Amino acid sequence: MKNILAPSILAADIANLGDEIKKTASAGAQYLHIDVMDGVFVPRLSFGQCVVESIRKCTDIIFDVHLMIVDPIKCVDDFAKCGADTITVHLEACKDVTATLKKIRECGCKVGLSIKPATKVEEIIPYLEYVDMILIMSVEPGLGGQKYMEDATGRIARTRELINERGLNVDVEVDGGVCKENLRMILDAGANVIVSGSSIFKGDITKNTLEFMKILKEAERA
Ligand code: DX5
Ligand code: ZN
Repeated sequence: MKNILAPSILAADIANLGDEIKKTASAGAQYLHIDVMDGVFVPRLSFGQCVVESIRKCTDIIFDVHLMIVDPIKCVDDFAKCGADTITVHLEACKDVTATLKKIRECGCKVGLSIKPATKVEEIIPYLEYVDMILIMSVEPGLGGQKYMEDATGRIARTRELINERGLNVDVEVDGGVCKENLRMILDAGANVIVSGSSIFKGDITKNTLEFMKILKEAERA
């Protein structure tokens, strides 16, 4: 399975966002992770449709939009029009999960479903047939720079097992506290889409991206 890096712009220098995106994309990152927060589902606000629309003009990289918002079905169409390629919603935030996932598909985007650390992995089972990706949160959503929760590793492995048992082709994405030191363990557990904010954008973006990509490629060959 192909391993993918999705740097999270939450940790980027927003005053230089276009340049920072170009640096990580040139060094090999395949996705760009965009965290959308509504101040309700999570305490803070972050980016909205305008930001997605604006950065769409400066890069062809795949936009992986993570909606941390209540009742996300209302915004799916809009984010698709602004340039999202994949849209991920939270199981805990949807009134009707299946309808929301179907709506994302209708809008022409890839479909992602995320669960918070306290949600049982088995809750995703009814929705596996509707998704392209499951996003396992390895921190409490809402803030960058937090420490990876160790029990996420078992949750990743269990998610991969549920997917494999059903013979499905679904990506497993991990988000929160991923760094060079724990990356290989996370990949070995069964994740193949890696979100990383601080470990990519804080410091030398090109160097950090190249180092992450090296580990991703090595794990692909193993
Ligand atoms: C947290 C966000 C993450 C965050 C990850 O709620 O969903 O995408 O940006 O940041 P790091 O990699 O710094 O934990
Ligand atoms: Zn995220």
